[in-house]
This record gives sequence, structure tokens and C-alpha cells, in this order.
Amino acid sequence: MTDFDTVDYFTDPALVPDPYPYYDHLRAKCPVVREPHYGVLAVTGYEESDKVLRDTDGNFSSCIAVGGPFPPLPFEPVGDDIGALIAEHRTQLPMYEHMVTMDPPDHTTARSLLSRLLTPARLKENEEFMWRLADRVLDEFVANGSSEFVADYAKPFSLLVIADLLGVPEEDHEEFRWVLTGDRPGSRVGAIDGDIVEANPLVYLDEKFSAYISDRRENPRDDVLTQLALAKYPDGSTPEVLDVVRTATFVFGAGQETTAKLLAAVMRVFGDQPELQQALRADRSLIPAFIEETLRLHAPVKSSFRLAKKTTSIGDVPVPAGSIVMVCPGAANRDPQRFENPHEFRVDRPNFREHIAFGRGPHTCPGSPLARVEGRVSIERILDRMLDITIDEDKHGPADARRYTFEPTFILRGLTDLHIRFTPGPAR
Ligand code: HEM
Repeated sequence: MTDFDTVDYFTDPALVPDPYPYYDHLRAKCPVVREPHYGVLAVTGYEESDKVLRDTDGNFSSCIAVGGPFPPLPFEPVGDDIGALIAEHRTQLPMYEHMVTMDPPDHTTARSLLSRLLTPARLKENEEFMWRLADRVLDEFVANGSSEFVADYAKPFSLLVIADLLGVPEEDHEEFRWVLTGDRPGSRVGAIDGDIVEANPLVYLDEKFSAYISDRRENPRDDVLTQLALAKYPDGSTPEVLDVVRTATFVFGAGQETTAKLLAAVMRVFGDQPELQQALRADRSLIPAFIEETLRLHAPVKSSFRLAKKTTSIGDVPVPAGSIVMVCPGAANRDPQRFENPHEFRVDRPNFREHIAFGRGPHTCPGSPLARVEGRVSIERILDRMLDITIDEDKHGPADARRYTFEPTFILRGLTDLHIRFTPGPAR
């Protein structure tokens, strides 16, 4: 039995399969509580999480958004305002070059490039691609009547949606899929140039996008990559190629894994709660609410971090400058003060939209409209083409004793694999 007062949230694998009782334990003590190992202030209350993420008074910096206490701060915080220290040491912090760790005004500038991409027209074209893609990916395995859904569908689908969003030419899609999901070339991916076998995904993306953006700046075409390459900052200046490349590679990182985890969570709910699968089959208008409830209960982002820039407070709890603050969407989303019977999946929950799975405030996920459409399109096509979806009991055990494996990280929450069985439905 895990002792919640002494367990190390960041490294103990015991909390990985089900972190929610631990969150409840912390919240019952206080919605803002200091954990004993790294002195991180864990925020598990809804109101308090909302306050930290929305903070508009410059009390919190996102400079440690991704790693939290790892690695330790490269400086010793002193005084009630450590803004200058953060600025001085920022480039020593992980992922400092990506928007998720930036603060205004640099954050606002970096994010503006992305808004050039996520226009209503682009999202509409991207959705059209999704409908075609969903069927194409399903065609690869549906006839088998069984699937390892994470590798067969969730990962390639979410990856290729981002590739399309960014305008990666379709002839490069299979190569992207192979390198970035670890899918091996075979009959379904075609022959691929041997020298990228060992490619590191981030280096690969950097190289690909540097080449695309430089090429489109020299030879503009009528395509999305050209729009990205020629996008200007709000003040009319042209970004460095590297800044555009960083936007593109970060969107891959932020948009693929998270959405793949959402899709796997959806499928697990179908298998574990067949009555919900039936409800959706009977009434497709429930799909949007179903997606929100899945996000609320199975938030793919497990922890986001902020560094207290100034001495402040959260609720009644004093927060000295330099404190590492952790917001767990999965904890806030199950706060009983906000959500009645919070652990229950209810598609008719009146406030299902209030979850914070996509964050809040200036860093709110800009990809949330896309992720929601990915969910909707996938569910529609899956319900049509996979009938009677069940969990494969040989792999995951019987309904009352399931064995699922989740990725062993404190940052994201998602299944490593999900084996399902179903009756193949009609193709389109
Ligand atoms: C279910 C899927 C997704 C979930 C749960 C999710 C969740 C989140 C969360 C919680 C944040 C805020 C992090 C923070 O405040 O520190 C975030 C930021 C971000 N997400 Fe998503 N995301 C998803 C899908 C996507 C997609 C599809 C894209 C790409 C189009 C995307 C792009 C981004 C970017 C670029 C940021 C950084 C924004 C900023 O720092 O201003 N996400 N996401």
C-alpha cells in the first residue's frame, strides 16, 4: 500500500497507473500543499489552479513549465522578486526556446506565428483531410477484427493531422510517420530511404522544417509551408528561419502525443463502459460532450509548472518567490467543489466544458479546436467501422481486474498500448 504522505510523485512508479487517489489525498489536506521531496507546491483545487494559470499580475513565470523541479534551478532564488534572475538564467532552462516556457512579451510574439496557421480556413481544410485520413488508417487494420489501437490508429492519425496542418507535402507523410512513430516500413508505409533509420525525431524535424522554410522563402508556392515561411510578426518584421522552425517542431511535440493519448482514452472508455459506447451509437450528438468528459477524467497533460516570480499567495497559502508550483489538470478536473461526483463519467454533466485539460490563461492550448475535431472525426468513423468494441481480455484481463500500462512519466498521462476486439463494420 502506497503511503501518500511520503511517496515521491515524480519518480515512484506506484502512482503511474492511477494518480487520482493521490490527488484526492493532497486536496483533502489543502488545495495547495508542499510535497516533501522537492518542495514543490502541488495545486489540486480547481479555483486555485485556475488562479495560477490565469495569473495576469506577473506573479508566475512559465520558464519551468515542462520540467518542474528537473533539473534544479540554475540559480538560488533571493528576495521577493526574482524576475531579473529568471531573465539572466533563462537560456539555461530546458526548452527555453519554445513558447510554452516563455513569458510575455516574448511569449506573445512567439505565439503570434502560430495564429497565422490556425485560421478558420486552414482548420476547415485540415478537417477535410482528417475525414480522408481516418478511413485510410482504419483501412489498414479494421478487417482483422482486432487492433493495438495506440500504434495502429492513435499515433499515426494524430501525427499526420499535424503534418497536414503544417503543410508537409503528402509525399513526405509516410516518411514522417515512420521516423516519428517508430512504425517500420512495410507494405503499408512503402520503401523509405535507409539513411534516416536512426534519426532522432527532434533533429529530424528541425532539419526537415529548416529545409522546407528556406526553400519556400526562396521559391514561394501556393501552399501552407509558404504561408508559414512568409508569416511576419505583428510589428511587420520577418522571423528568423529558426524561429519558424521552432514553432513547427513544437507544434509536433505538443499536438501529437497529447491527442494520441486522448484517442486511446476514448477507446478505453468504449471498452470499459459499454453503456457509453451504446449511448453514442444511438445518439451521435453526444459525441462533443463525451470528448469533454474524457478530457476531464483522463487529462493527457498530467502536470504543468510555474515558478513564482514574486512573493504572492494562492488562496490562503503564502508562496515565496522562487517556489515551484505544480498544477495538475487531472486533479483540478476532479475537484468535488467544482464537479459533482467528480470521478463519475457523465455525458449530461451541465458544466463539462469547465475542465482545464487544455490549461487556462495566456498559455491555453492553441490546438484545442483541432484536438476536439480530431476526436469527433475519429469517433464518428470508428463507430461506423468498428462494431461492438471490447477490450482484449487476454491482454488486459477481465472487466473487474484490468491491467493497463501507462507511460511512466509525471508530465503526460496515457496508455502505452490498448488491445481491442471488434466486429468489422462497412467501409465508407
Ligand atoms: C488532447 C489534446 C491536447 C491536450 C490535452 C493539450 C493540452 C495542452 C495544455 C494543458 C497546454 C498548456 C501548458 C501550460 O500551460 O504550461 C498546451 C499548450 C500547447 N498546446 Fe496543446 N494540447 C493538446 C493538443 C494540441 C494540439 C493538437 C496542438 C497543435 C496544433 C497543440 C499545441 C499546443 C501549443 C503550441 C501549446 C503551447 C501554447 C503556449 O505556450 O502558449 N496542442 N496544450
